[in-house]
Amino acid sequence: MEEMLRKKVMLSGIKPSGDLTLGSYLGAVRHWAARAEEFDCYYFMADMHAITVRQDPAVLRRRTLEQLAQYIACGLNPEKNTLFIQSHVHQHAELGWVLNCYSMFGELSRMTQFKDKSAKNVDNINGGLFTYPSLMAADILLYQPDYVPVGEDQKQHVELTRNIVQRFNGIYGDVFKMPEPYIPKVGARIMSLTNPASKMSKSEDQDTGRVTLMDDPTLIMKQFKRAITDSDTQRCVRYDPEEKPGVANLMTIYAAVTGKSYQEIEAEFDGQGYGMFKPAVGEAVVEVLRPIRDEAQRILKDKAYLESVYRNGAEKASYAAERTLRKVYKKIGFISQ
Ligand code: TYM
Repeated sequence: MEEMLRKKVMLSGIKPSGDLTLGSYLGAVRHWAARAEEFDCYYFMADMHAITVRQDPAVLRRRTLEQLAQYIACGLNPEKNTLFIQSHVHQHAELGWVLNCYSMFGELSRMTQFKDKSAKNVDNINGGLFTYPSLMAADILLYQPDYVPVGEDQKQHVELTRNIVQRFNGIYGDVFKMPEPYIPKVGARIMSLTNPASKMSKSEDQDTGRVTLMDDPTLIMKQFKRAITDSDTQRCVRYDPEEKPGVANLMTIYAAVTGKSYQEIEAEFDGQGYGMFKPAVGEAVVEVLRPIRDEAQRILKDKAYLESVYRNGAEKASYAAERTLRKVYKKIGFISQ
């Protein structure tokens, strides 16, 4: 009966390792806000994950609070969603350790993100970077979620979490609920505006072609005007990710922010060339981000409010997390206190 009455649970997180980008927004956050009535939702700032790459402490603190303000500005009402900071809920580190012992060296070695990040940080290939997916599995499984809404690049980590669930439940019975990744149909992989072969990333600087939620309209327009398209002499706006990846990326962004289909976009810019198309995408993005930026800036000024949100969030999250952790400790043979 309790199971029937229980709302389905949704959970996700973002590392405060850089300013939130249009990619994080279109691939993740924007899909979260609409679910608050239907689901029991947990969203957090993954500060423990952020330190797998060296961070300036003052900048990390600032970004963590900014991210919380941006979550709220994107429509995550703290009354209806549990918003918290990962390091405030100690159960993440504890279950993370346990799950390390149920994650295999081979499967961790195959993670694309580990390979990419090790290539980019050759002087700091630390243990945390390697065991990152076990901590992410703990983040997820503590809350027994039904769905984990993420962009395409995190799918592999959710799949690994599913393998851990299978392994763990295979030994100890039904301890963890099997989570499903929830990947949006449009916008799951937004690419850099200047290099459509690599994803738009928050930890790189502006010259890598990213747009952040806090960029002012002039900068956003500049970024879109200099976006890479292709050398097609006809300068035709057509959706072809293989042949025209830069144009396809811009079309994806435009489709995601306007709700138009690729056919509608092709028809809209038929015969007009990239000169009209690129600023039109920029303007559509500016209009979507403007209210978010204004609201985030307003909220950020109210530190006492932000503090009350993350304190309440941590309290609620700890309550749910502790239930799962107790169950796990008992199953694996730890003596309860
Ligand atoms: P992170 O911080 O890299 O990214 C946060 C979310 O944004 C999505 N995303 C994108 N989607 C589309 N296009 C892009 N260019 C783009 N860039 C980012 C990501 O897929 C992600 O959904 N390990 C996670 C954070 C995490 C987490 C978790 C997520 C820690 N624990 C538990 C879910 C559940 C990460 O590094 O995401």
